Amino acid sequence: MFVFHVLFAASVTSAFRLSEQDEFHFKSWMAQYNKEYNLKEYYQRLQIFTENKKRIDKHNEGNHSFTMGLNEFSDMTFSEFRKSFLMSEPQNCSATKGNYFSSNGLLPDSIDWRKKGNYVTPVKNQGGCGSCWTFSTTGCLESVTAINKGKLVPLSEQQLVDCAQDFNNHGCNGGLPSQAFEYIMYNKGLMTEQDYPYTAFEGKCVYKPGKAAAFVNSVVNITAYNELEMVDAVGTHNPVSFAFEVTSDFMSYHQGVYTSTECHNTTDKVNHAVLAVGYGQENGTPYWIVKNSWGSSWGMNGYFLIERGKNMCGLAACASFPVV
Ligand SMILES: *[C@@H]1O[C@H](CO)[C@@H](O)[C@H](O)[C@H]1NC(C)=O
Ligand SMILES: *[C@@H]1O[C@H](CO)[C@@H](O)[C@H](O)[C@H]1NC(C)=O
Ligand SMILES: *[C@@H]1O[C@H](CO)[C@@H](O)[C@H](O)[C@H]1NC(C)=O
Ligand SMILES: *[C@@H]1O[C@H](CO)[C@@H](O)[C@H](O)[C@H]1NC(C)=O
Repeated sequence: MFVFHVLFAASVTSAFRLSEQDEFHFKSWMAQYNKEYNLKEYYQRLQIFTENKKRIDKHNEGNHSFTMGLNEFSDMTFSEFRKSFLMSEPQNCSATKGNYFSSNGLLPDSIDWRKKGNYVTPVKNQGGCGSCWTFSTTGCLESVTAINKGKLVPLSEQQLVDCAQDFNNHGCNGGLPSQAFEYIMYNKGLMTEQDYPYTAFEGKCVYKPGKAAAFVNSVVNITAYNELEMVDAVGTHNPVSFAFEVTSDFMSYHQGVYTSTECHNTTDKVNHAVLAVGYGQENGTPYWIVKNSWGSSWGMNGYFLIERGKNMCGLAACASFPVV
């Protein structure tokens, strides 16, 4: 162990020259995010942090529609980040033939469900568990229920992590909102956040039918890759759950309209599920307004904007919402 440490420290200093300024930036970032390391970890994390910061600074010098920034993930490599925060198994994202009926009416140019009423709960934090799909699901059902029944109640992700396996969901290893809505429909209910709180670990299912607080009557799948149906659904009905492919450039997203040449637009690459709560356009670029589940200090107070109209990162591959 000791020998490894010395060798490692030596290889760090020779292969990668760190300046006093790099260390200064790292230490202020550590203080901001309350990070502590042992000596070995310190040098390892300093190196990763410095590489991330270089990429961020370089990106921000260019002319892009979004900026990158340091955040709580800045001491992780993308492969570490992927293991802890993204879905590990390829999902059966196969809503090829959807069952959405377009309104064929006039759509608003822009919409933001956060501003239309008390329809969107505060941003939550999934922690180190690939349970994004449960947050996308609760976020959508919370909003759909609030819009249709007049009451906004935070719902349980943990029930979905612990209980929804029969519908091809895999707790902290991934799942899909469409499959979670199916579970809630057949299970005849989802409990509240308060009654079945989040732990970020997969545990034994302790669903109590008497405590069911939200219900799903039917599930609507958007036709795969039909982003216009998504616009129609968000513009006329409610927020919509969707999945997309997160690549390394997304980990350091700060603000603006995210667009990427690193991600793919295919169904088999989606590894993160989120919630579209609105759309708009900025300097001629159309975008989605999206609620994430990485806490409110990530991105734009926990939200991000992503380019709309190009099936960016496969975002229209498997979108869905419940009818209550
Ligand atoms: C930055 O990009 C935008 C959009 O592509 C373009 O309109 C603008 O002229 C560019 N600005 C500079 C300084 O290159
Ligand atoms: C995909 O579907 C098949 C058949 O229903 C199932 O066995 C498999 O576990 C699913 N994969 C995932 C990642 O859900
Ligand atoms: C919607 O998607 C879910 C899960 O992917 C699937 O089980 C269900 O059959 C689909 N519903 C329709 C009406 O296609
Ligand atoms: C994916 O991207 C390719 C290349 O830009 C494009 O030709 C194709 O139509 C896209 N497919 C979908 C389903 O969006």
